[in-house]
Amino acid sequence: MNLKAWKTAAGLALKKAPRTSDEFVKLPGHVAIIMDGNGRWAKKHRLNVSKGHRQGTENLREIIRHTDDLGIKVLSLYAFSTENWNRSEEEVGALMQLILEFFTTEIDELDAKNVRILILGDKGRLPEKQREVLKEAEKRTEKNTGLRLNIAVNYGSRAEIVKATQEIAALVKNGEMQAEEINEKTISDHLYTAGQPDVDLMIRTSGEQRLSNFLLYQNAYAEFVFPEALWPDFSVHDYDMALDAYGRRDRRYGGR
Ligand code: FPP
Repeated sequence: MNLKAWKTAAGLALKKAPRTSDEFVKLPGHVAIIMDGNGRWAKKHRLNVSKGHRQGTENLREIIRHTDDLGIKVLSLYAFSTENWNRSEEEVGALMQLILEFFTTEIDELDAKNVRILILGDKGRLPEKQREVLKEAEKRTEKNTGLRLNIAVNYGSRAEIVKATQEIAALVKNGEMQAEEINEKTISDHLYTAGQPDVDLMIRTSGEQRLSNFLLYQNAYAEFVFPEALWPDFSVHDYDMALDAYGRRDRRYGGR
């Protein structure tokens, strides 16, 4: 190997080594990710869109593992939005199948690693098999105390806020609460993420810069990073770069 090739290979090897937590100035407590770009990745590789989602699911495993290794407390992933039902029957079917496979194949390792799974969203509209497997994953891991892994399936943030409002209104109607007692915590306590910290870092891959109805309330003071990589190409190194960018941000929460 000539010197140039050696340097390139060494550089790539260096770049790819995942960082450890002590290599960051500060790490977020809660990371949320919009895993965007599966469709474009498939198109780029002249593949069916389902293959893009499959490759994206492969990627997910590594990102979850690295999040856990770094000791980050909460990871929220947007897997399927309420708007995703509008995609073709074939694509919705492929995503449902991947969700089923993911929970079936990963549950043992996640449970063994003390990961606690929570599904954000309305499971009611999901096919029965998926509904059962998701409920089972939540139940099996509910006492785990490690990484909190939130997976949004049939999730929409506005619908979540409407649901919270209805629950709080019912408490007021039944005389269990006074309207004046409602505060920010009351609302947080009625979201799917009740009891969890707000999002610190929101990552959306593929260069798109939108929230797309994901965790609107929980993102109030989040820092945003928009890597260009399409989700199936988003590497642990790209993730480390996003975490590093977060570490260098000065968060003032509206103060000086
Ligand atoms: C956005 O890409 C991605 C999705 C709609 C689905 C994300 C789902 C996965 C990565 C896999 C399933 C998740 C689990 C938990 C098993 P897009 O199709 O909108 O991409 P595009 O904008 O390039 O078309």
